[in-house]
Amino acid sequence: MNVLETERLVLRHLTIDDAQFIFILVNDPSWLRFIGDRGVHSLADARDYISKGPVESYRRHGFGLYLTALKEDATPIGICGLLKRDNLPDADIGFAFLPQFVGRGYAYEAACAVMAHAKIDFGLGRVIAVTNPDNSGSIRVLEKLGLKFERMIRMAADKDEIKVFGCSI
Ligand SMILES: CC(C)(COP(=O)(O)OP(=O)(O)OC[C@H]1O[C@@H](n2cnc3c(N)ncnc32)[C@H](O)[C@@H]1OP(=O)(O)O)[C@@H](O)C(=O)NCCC(=O)NCCS
Repeated sequence: MNVLETERLVLRHLTIDDAQFIFILVNDPSWLRFIGDRGVHSLADARDYISKGPVESYRRHGFGLYLTALKEDATPIGICGLLKRDNLPDADIGFAFLPQFVGRGYAYEAACAVMAHAKIDFGLGRVIAVTNPDNSGSIRVLEKLGLKFERMIRMAADKDEIKVFGCSI
């Protein structure tokens, strides 16, 4: 099911049939460095990740991370969408793209559509984002979207501090 369309991109619900793509994305060095190891070591793990993560989020909140594909030929290039974490008060925007598709404005284009989606389709008044302080690419995308740095947080006692950005929408 297509959720959002932009000039060059289509954002749609992930299904377990996207396991091969997710397996590659979450094991890419940039994902492992800036987002972390999700323990997805097989296609079965990738199906499990999709079911317990994005698909469960669509069921529970209506929104989630969406597969982001090129409109022209449906090539999957990344994911972008909204998450609602139990330990954060507001929904946060997330995105990740395969390295061969970065630097072309796709993250910003997809994320703009997701910000509008949060406001128009879900009536959210605020969106936040969490990012590794060294992730200058992610921070640049967030600032371009209008989010501002708010505070540092630790998601778990054994984790490094990360930056929280946010804005009213
Ligand atoms: C971070 C990421 C999403 C950026 O995607 P992208 O498609 O290259 O971003 P865009 O092309 O839309 O760029 C938007 C802006 O950010 C800038 N930017 C992107 N990557 C950058 C980087 N590594 N360093 C500095 N600026 C960067 C672009 O120049 C552009 O700014 P401009 O319009 O002023 O020139 C991508 O590199 C990625 O998927 N990284 C791995 C996963 C990840 O870190 N996700 C975020 C987790 S919080």
